[in-house]
Amino acid sequence: MARSTQHPPSGRGARRRPLALAVALLAGAALTLTGTSSATAAPTGPVYLNAKAPAEQRVGDLLRRMTLEEKVGQTAQAAVVRIQGDCMWSGGDLTERCMKEVFDDQEIGSILSGGGMPPKVNTPKAWAEMTNAIQRYAIEHSRLRIPLIYGVDAVHGHNNVIGATKTPQQLGLGATWNTGLVRELGASTSEAVKATGVSWNFAPVADISRDTRWGRYYETFAEDPILAGSLAEGFVKGSEDTGAVSATVKHFAGYSQPMNGHDRTETHVDPRYLRDTILPAYKQAIDAGADTVMVNSGSLNGIPAHASKYLLTDVLRKDFGFKGVVVSDWDDVRALQTRFHVVGSYADAAAKALNAGVDMAMLPPDAVDGYTAGAREAVRDGKVSMRRLDEAVARVLRLKMKLGLFENPFVDASKADGAVLGADKDLAARAATESMTLLRNEGNVLPLNKDLGKVVVAGPSADSVANQNGGWTIGWQGIPAGVDEPGVTVYEGVKAARGDAETVLAMDADEAVSETEGADAAVVVVGEKPGAEGELDSENPSLAADQQDLIDRLEKTGKPVVVVVVASRPIVLGSAADAKNLLMAWLPGSEAGTAVASVLFGDANPSGRLPVSWPKTVGDQPMSYLQLPGTNGGPSSNYDPLFPFGHGLSYTTYETRGLTLASSSVAKNGTVRASVTVANTGSRTGTLVVPVYVERPVSSVLVAPRRLAGFARVDLAAGQQRTVEVAFPMSRMAVTQGDVDGSGTPSVSSGAYKVVSGGKEAALTVR
Ligand code: NOJ
Repeated sequence: MARSTQHPPSGRGARRRPLALAVALLAGAALTLTGTSSATAAPTGPVYLNAKAPAEQRVGDLLRRMTLEEKVGQTAQAAVVRIQGDCMWSGGDLTERCMKEVFDDQEIGSILSGGGMPPKVNTPKAWAEMTNAIQRYAIEHSRLRIPLIYGVDAVHGHNNVIGATKTPQQLGLGATWNTGLVRELGASTSEAVKATGVSWNFAPVADISRDTRWGRYYETFAEDPILAGSLAEGFVKGSEDTGAVSATVKHFAGYSQPMNGHDRTETHVDPRYLRDTILPAYKQAIDAGADTVMVNSGSLNGIPAHASKYLLTDVLRKDFGFKGVVVSDWDDVRALQTRFHVVGSYADAAAKALNAGVDMAMLPPDAVDGYTAGAREAVRDGKVSMRRLDEAVARVLRLKMKLGLFENPFVDASKADGAVLGADKDLAARAATESMTLLRNEGNVLPLNKDLGKVVVAGPSADSVANQNGGWTIGWQGIPAGVDEPGVTVYEGVKAARGDAETVLAMDADEAVSETEGADAAVVVVGEKPGAEGELDSENPSLAADQQDLIDRLEKTGKPVVVVVVASRPIVLGSAADAKNLLMAWLPGSEAGTAVASVLFGDANPSGRLPVSWPKTVGDQPMSYLQLPGTNGGPSSNYDPLFPFGHGLSYTTYETRGLTLASSSVAKNGTVRASVTVANTGSRTGTLVVPVYVERPVSSVLVAPRRLAGFARVDLAAGQQRTVEVAFPMSRMAVTQGDVDGSGTPSVSSGAYKVVSGGKEAALTVR
């Protein structure tokens, strides 16, 4: 199929519409692109099509040629269902009528598949063919041949695609404390995403985990801002390393702490907590070079985040220096009118969001037309200045140019299956293995001997690919019924590890108990069903009573029982809190069984450490190790978890032998260099997470007794001792000064601090 190299005419009326080509595509003619076709203009063409011209010149040139309608279109991102099937929610084949409405009439510049929304046949090749077909139509029907940018939520691998490797969900990655690994995962995900014609990934989440009632808890990395920020930084760098995919730091800011634990209910955070605890993780990820930021869908202190000029302009642009694209969350521009009632019309909603700092509106199918009409009206009426619109459009165009979309808008669909199906399984298995967090190992039952006579594998998550993946897998709420998604379940992993030895799957509770009575050990895999967003909110984030009962009954057999928790959060365990052998597997993804089995049988030595506090009771929310000690003295008024932040056991033993500082005094803006000497005093190789905390000085503003300042992971052979340096800027310990209004600026208090790790400490004076 030859593509026209005709230069774009400058007048709107001269729009080219090679409809025959598009119709052929949409009629189902197989789109096979040989190689990646290039739209690079001849040197005599317009500057904006010249890939060699400086980006700013290209953007300026293109902007000058654009009409209001074309500009507004670049600030809009439509859900792909808007151009499939019935043009609304049905999905299915691309529909020419809808494509015409979206691209010819509304000039939309971006498409997303949000939480599923696959092509009719969900294979990588079909994804690539779909994105190519949409891209081709969009370019051919854009007077200026502006390519679109396609976005997805690839939050644990290319998770919407059947057969794509599913990495652990973020919270499990939090347990690895491994920024390098997370960077590798970001890169791997980008490769998969790119192979299907997608260049925008709505990940990572830089919100911090504070409340297990919230259904999106598992999408965060950690309760601690430094740990969450460092891992988000790793993901951003890895994602963008290839230069072909943009990451998104979301959900800016303060999304994870709705007051009553329910998603998108009001959030109230005082300015000091916002600045010192919530914002740093986003900042760290943004500083890593993230191309885009997504806005918090909820409200903060009585203002919808999408309407907050303070957040989106003062903090994000002025303080953080962010230069990229700010995208709204799902339908959140219209929500300013319909859900928040801060404005009376869609046009005013568009104005409010654009003026606050939103550059692109993410639109469900029924919100697209209203947005473009409203935004055009808002600009025509002077509610949004052309300058502000140009600024938003320029950011979008700059991004498309940076990603090379003007030159290489298509992918080779024939390569997509090969690039995606089962790709990087070893990496995903390694990530899942590193995430395994051994919480209890009484009597050293673990690791199990592979040659035990009979092992029973029981529990609702023992053989469930759906449960081990959680939400955002094929479908928004998890793998839809009837979808055959590959994955290694715990049962399969245990069976594979044991070869010919007898491994029995017992899904029924009575059967599990009677089988265990005649077995050498039981592995019981409990937890939660998949879900996402509000659907997974819980007023009682606990292990279901029947699962607690199953564990109790199995333990009563007197046989060794290992409880494996496959869950989106540290669920309150009830009677299972007394389980003798407890392994947290988080939501480990497609390679769950391989990872769990490798830890159960000792092929891998567990190294996961809790990135969050494990609560004893459901009343313990919100919770974090950074909470201030209560002054009442009542029971549990202090930090009182079942397992604390950072907890995790190993099959070997470690000792921290020393902690020294390069200098015992540091300037407020200086860097602390702590050297920690650790040793493996047991008989197995292992990896030790070395957290370095800073203890508070005398400070007029209250700060947690101990805050994480930096960390490292150290591989240690049996008997080996190593010294590792953990360096961190003292500015990480800054707190916002001022009275209860937090009206001061963040600064580091001078005085006497302590740096501590593994029971060792060193005095530090801050000047
Ligand atoms: C809503 C979610 O809040 C956000 O995380 C996601 O990226 C978008 N939907 C798109 O699916």
